[in-house]
Amino acid sequence: MQAIEIRPDLYWLGAIDWSMRSFHGYATSRGSSYNAYLILDDKITLIDTVKRPFAGELLDRIASVIDPARIDYIVSNHAEPDHSGSIPILLSHCPHAKVYTSDPQGHKALAARYGDLPYEAVKTGDTLSLGRHTLHFVATPMLHWPDSMVTYCPEEKILFSNDAFGQHLASNRLFDDENDLSVVMAEAKKYYANILMLYGRQAQTALKTVRTLDLDMIAVGHGVLWRSHIEDILAAYEKWSEGVLEERAVVVFDSMWGSTEKLARAITDAFTARKIPVAYFDLRVDEISDAITEILTSKYLAVGSPTLNNQMMPNIAAFLSYLKGFVPKGRQAFAFGSYGWGGQSVAQVEAELRAAGCDICRPMVRIANVPIPEQLAALHTEIQAL
Ligand SMILES: Cc1cc2nc3c(=O)[nH]c(=O)nc-3n(C[C@H](O)[C@H](O)[C@H](O)COP(=O)(O)O)c2cc1C
Ligand SMILES: [Fe+2]
Ligand SMILES: [Fe+2]
Repeated sequence: MQAIEIRPDLYWLGAIDWSMRSFHGYATSRGSSYNAYLILDDKITLIDTVKRPFAGELLDRIASVIDPARIDYIVSNHAEPDHSGSIPILLSHCPHAKVYTSDPQGHKALAARYGDLPYEAVKTGDTLSLGRHTLHFVATPMLHWPDSMVTYCPEEKILFSNDAFGQHLASNRLFDDENDLSVVMAEAKKYYANILMLYGRQAQTALKTVRTLDLDMIAVGHGVLWRSHIEDILAAYEKWSEGVLEERAVVVFDSMWGSTEKLARAITDAFTARKIPVAYFDLRVDEISDAITEILTSKYLAVGSPTLNNQMMPNIAAFLSYLKGFVPKGRQAFAFGSYGWGGQSVAQVEAELRAAGCDICRPMVRIANVPIPEQLAALHTEIQAL
């Protein structure tokens, strides 16, 4: 396996995870990559590593350029194992290497995971000279872990951003302009929504710093690198982190025998009549991580569940638990569902939406058994008036 030269003396290496379809529950329908970078200079430096099962792939790619034993420095921007998992294996091949990590959180997190290794803890403003290249470290706490940092190389005008600006997207075309931009942006949005949405304030702080950098490239930790569309991804991150909502609706539901589904269709038709785009998620077949992606930028949210043994359906409970974690404030939300007797699910859904920080914008829609045409027509009219 080969490294890919992206600049003289600067290589992409890492691993492409073509077959991964779930990243702890986040549906990764296009796989992912764990990007690492090698800088050849007086001090040979590896930026980030890969998930442990891919250590062999990383070592192969390094060996296509230099003997891994010559590595002097390993920069660990983030202690999560998808980037740090191969550090111990790497160190067994690079006896002189030191590991640069954030002070104190990265140091603590790596030591907890991998024990006592030759760490050098760095803070924002610290620099490391490699010879012709300099690395500037910038802590980005809670973007998305306490230890997260990014590394900037002014001589190359490259930001090694790790998780920030990344996408779960496996591609053998390294750069944004070599891929379908709509796919890259869609995956970047999904990544922001599912990994970073809760940390909008921290993202805004980091963006202010990033805006002061002279940038020719953002070398991400997952997916394709930004070089032609840097402004697009920065503007998108600014919009997402500010929580700008569009006149769009998301309908999420589960159904056993089709009644709650009928309500979901009636709600969708009513938004359609208002020319409001609807993203429709039937959780019997759809993924909660895709629903979260749409909720990131949508003003309206309708969530439906029939009652099952006095509870909402487990798919909806899982979705609402996941949603609550993102604290999606300001969405205009309501609950709906069909029931047979006690019918507790709809109030449970409404309570969870409120607990998530949504504004409840209309009374819950709670229909016994099968909704009749008059009830569906009334619902249509009421949603027109929202
Ligand atoms: C296994 C099972 C358990 C149910 N438990 C309840 C219940 O505890 N309370 C209730 O009001 N209805 C209960 N129901 C009835 C459903 O909520 C009712 O049939 C509803 O109309 C189903 O909506 P759906 O067509 O969207 O699945 C249960 C139905 C099934 C199949
Ligand atoms: Fe991470
Ligand atoms: Fe990651």
